[in-house]
Amino acid sequence: MKHIKWTGECLKIIDQRKLPGKVKYIFLKNLEEFHKAIVEMKVRGAPLIGIVGAFAIAVLAQEIKTDDRKEFLKKIEEGAKYILESRPTAYNLQYCVKFVCEKISECNHIEDMRKVAIETAQELMEREIENSRRIGEYGETLLNDGDTILTHCNAGELATIAYGTALAPIRIAQKKGKCLYVIATETRPAQQGARLTAWELLNEKIPVTVISDTAVGYVMSKGMVDKVIVGADRITKEGYVFNKIGTYQIALLAKEHNLPFYVAAPTSTFDINIEHNRVVIEERDANEIVFVGRKRIVAKGVKVYNPVFDKTPPNLINAIITEKGIIHPPFEKSISKLFS
Ligand code: MRU
Repeated sequence: MKHIKWTGECLKIIDQRKLPGKVKYIFLKNLEEFHKAIVEMKVRGAPLIGIVGAFAIAVLAQEIKTDDRKEFLKKIEEGAKYILESRPTAYNLQYCVKFVCEKISECNHIEDMRKVAIETAQELMEREIENSRRIGEYGETLLNDGDTILTHCNAGELATIAYGTALAPIRIAQKKGKCLYVIATETRPAQQGARLTAWELLNEKIPVTVISDTAVGYVMSKGMVDKVIVGADRITKEGYVFNKIGTYQIALLAKEHNLPFYVAAPTSTFDINIEHNRVVIEERDANEIVFVGRKRIVAKGVKVYNPVFDKTPPNLINAIITEKGIIHPPFEKSISKLFS
């Protein structure tokens, strides 16, 4: 099932908030609809929101009504700023939006700008599929037949365009005949693991067991996990990995139990121009914690803090799987080489 499709006029996506109960498609036709879909996490996952951001600018480029090149570029810049405000942590969104804007600004004529915007968004989408496939090819070499992999959040097809990041090595390994088992953490508060990862893997016939986030230490101590693979929303030049809240404690537990902790991400997730202390961690509405479904579980008047990403330091990471190969510590050195 394709969860994202460019129709030629608008972007057709599956509303991920409704999964797995309902497969509902929605159509994003203007900048406001793109912005809302990202903010409300109808689309989510760093690589996917990057592509959706690219199409947001492409659609905006078709809508701007002016013959003046300068004014056109100003409106594109304003639109890009608005889209980038939707979710601050995932670097792919910045990467893709800036990439499309740059391609637009290289054109002299407005008709070319409109055309190039669509072509670039489509090109980024194709590239994303190929990157995920390559991550899968490299990553599967780290997996042995019979391994049980613990993963967090959803870093699968739904978070990308195809294959996934953390789930790509598992998919490719299965295609190559390895038999793998997955433990998916529930991932409070938006339950991406329980709702999305489990559903994706069930559809692929890859055995999956969901556990609560709080069960990670216990299942590791029982010897039920061989390796951990997670995705990433942003990786800094020092090798700090920003990913779904809870990743850091899983990395600490993996270290304690001598389990390899791998991160899978395309190079479009690497922000080599920022220091880790300056990365903005998104905080979302308290109601995501206060309510489970429609049921209030936190008493009225209680203070709630809802950061949705955390930072895993490089010393807890054994390797990072990218589309250009697998890199190892010291990451400051291997990342600099990756981008040289
Ligand atoms: O809040 P989300 O669902 O957008 O967060 C997604 C994650 O944290 C994923 O693990 C990350 O984007 C890697 S995805 C390939």
